Amino acid sequence: MARLIDGRAIAEKVYVDLRREIAELKAKGVTPGLAVILIGDNPASRAYVRSKDKMCRELGLHSVKLELPTSTTRTELLGRVKELNRDSGIHGILVQSPPPEHIDEAAIVRALDPHKDVDGFHPENVAKLVLDDPSGFVPCTPLGVQRLLTETKVEIGGAHVVVLGRSMIVGKPLALLLMQKNQNGNATVTVVHSRSRDLAKIIRSADIVVAAIGRAEFVKADHVREGAVVIDVGINRVEDSGSARGYRLVGDVAFDEVSKKASAITPVPGGVGPMTIAMLMANTLKACRQSL
Ligand code: GUN
Repeated sequence: MARLIDGRAIAEKVYVDLRREIAELKAKGVTPGLAVILIGDNPASRAYVRSKDKMCRELGLHSVKLELPTSTTRTELLGRVKELNRDSGIHGILVQSPPPEHIDEAAIVRALDPHKDVDGFHPENVAKLVLDDPSGFVPCTPLGVQRLLTETKVEIGGAHVVVLGRSMIVGKPLALLLMQKNQNGNATVTVVHSRSRDLAKIIRSADIVVAAIGRAEFVKADHVREGAVVIDVGINRVEDSGSARGYRLVGDVAFDEVSKKASAITPVPGGVGPMTIAMLMANTLKACRQSL
């Protein structure tokens, strides 16, 4: 039976350090500020934005939550982003993804001040990730995955990591992060996706499997080598008439069967999710520090 990687407990450890740093900044008269923009009424996005705002408040950060209607135009949205770029009380800006279809996400991301881009989606920050330049921002979920591995003392250097999924938010930046030439990198990374041939064979050769494809319980026991470490980034809502909400959350990994074979595994919920928010808070403090 696999060891459970407790994301909530590891996130708490991160918050101990963050609280100390926040106190130091406040002693200098500086309060880190984060603005989160939500367009439309996607229920999952609303829930994420609520958690981010709540965590800011718990830590004593300045939090601005902008909830805009689905009808918001690209021009209006760009106007709001530019206002926040100029606002000296705001150190980090996040536009919740995915926006409604008529909004060009790439254009919004390019409009962000890269020094406030705590999601690490701006081309300047993507370039810094590729160039191993630590001054840039790295997307929060990949950072959270890396931290889960290092806190669990899983050796990343030299390991074969198979990442399932090539998204801008998780798969691609995670692959770049884990192959960086530094103490928490040096992995051999393979990225597989919906068009990959021999998917199962490739995943079976992994020391570390990271599932980020957004398909409920896609990774089965026979995909995973005995003793592999399994990180599940998926958060899928599946219908469940037995639950009060009408749905339950499951990951991209069939937890019950895979946990019998893996040496360590993250649960859903309570694995990667809490770490993503902790890394967003950490990136906001980094943005604040760099602005001084
Ligand atoms: N949607 C899902 N994950 C994320 C994230 O890390 N940042 C943003 N902006 N949107 C998301």
